[in-house]
Amino acid sequence: MNFSLAKLIRLPSYYFWHLSARVQFAIRGVKWPKHLTIKGPLGLSAIGKIELGDHITIVNDSKYNRAGINHPTQLVAGRDAILKIGNNVGMSGASIYAESSIEIGDHVLLGANARIYDTDFHPIHFQDRVAGAPAKTAAVVIGEHVWLAANVTILKGVHIGARSVIAAGSVVTSDIPEDCLAGGIPAKVIRKITENDLYNHPNSKLDNPN
Ligand SMILES: CC(C)(COP(=O)(O)OP(=O)(O)OC[C@H]1O[C@@H](n2cnc3c(N)ncnc32)[C@H](O)[C@@H]1OP(=O)(O)O)[C@@H](O)C(=O)NCCC(=O)NCCS
Repeated sequence: MNFSLAKLIRLPSYYFWHLSARVQFAIRGVKWPKHLTIKGPLGLSAIGKIELGDHITIVNDSKYNRAGINHPTQLVAGRDAILKIGNNVGMSGASIYAESSIEIGDHVLLGANARIYDTDFHPIHFQDRVAGAPAKTAAVVIGEHVWLAANVTILKGVHIGARSVIAAGSVVTSDIPEDCLAGGIPAKVIRKITENDLYNHPNSKLDNPN
């Protein structure tokens, strides 16, 4: 009863944010996918190209995800850049900033405040910064079924292999292979993810909920 009432109260705001995102997409020339759920105000800047797959959920406010979102999701594609997001992707307070290319596979989960940058934004040497020289950029690829836990940062040139998991708070500076749990600063492979990680596997150390 309470749950339905809470849902009913939130209904106008869902429609409001949906409508405001539709206007933003139209102004920025980004194609609206078949199913897009937007909760809260989205930041969108598409001088380059942004492509979204189907069934995407974008959460932008901590009242819709209590894991601790600290800013609305930002999707940015700079001049000549491409940001491509696959199907069934969920994100909460993410900052995804493409100056060359960022590709996110299907079924990827981006935990609260995930940051994915394919650029350093500024050059290392101060004289280059003073001269306004461009920063280094390198394409980022996040494989399908990857999960980035809360507060993970992915830096330029990184490729995360399919089905891997990056532990909370990690900073990833180099490639992570498929099917790995990785974590730390800089992130290193901690172990392989195997069938033993399944809840219903006989060797699982986890409590079987079934
Ligand atoms: C990814 C995660 C679920 C893995 O949990 P797990 O399988 O139980 O892994 P464990 O806790 O057994 O840790 C395995 C090893 O990784 C290390 N580790 C775990 N999390 C780590 C982190 N964030 N950074 C660095 N190392 C980490 C552990 O210390 C342990 O090392 P050890 O073998 O030397 O003792 C967990 O690390 C995590 O990040 N949880 C938070 C998820 C989250 O942010 N959810 C909200 C957003 S969706």
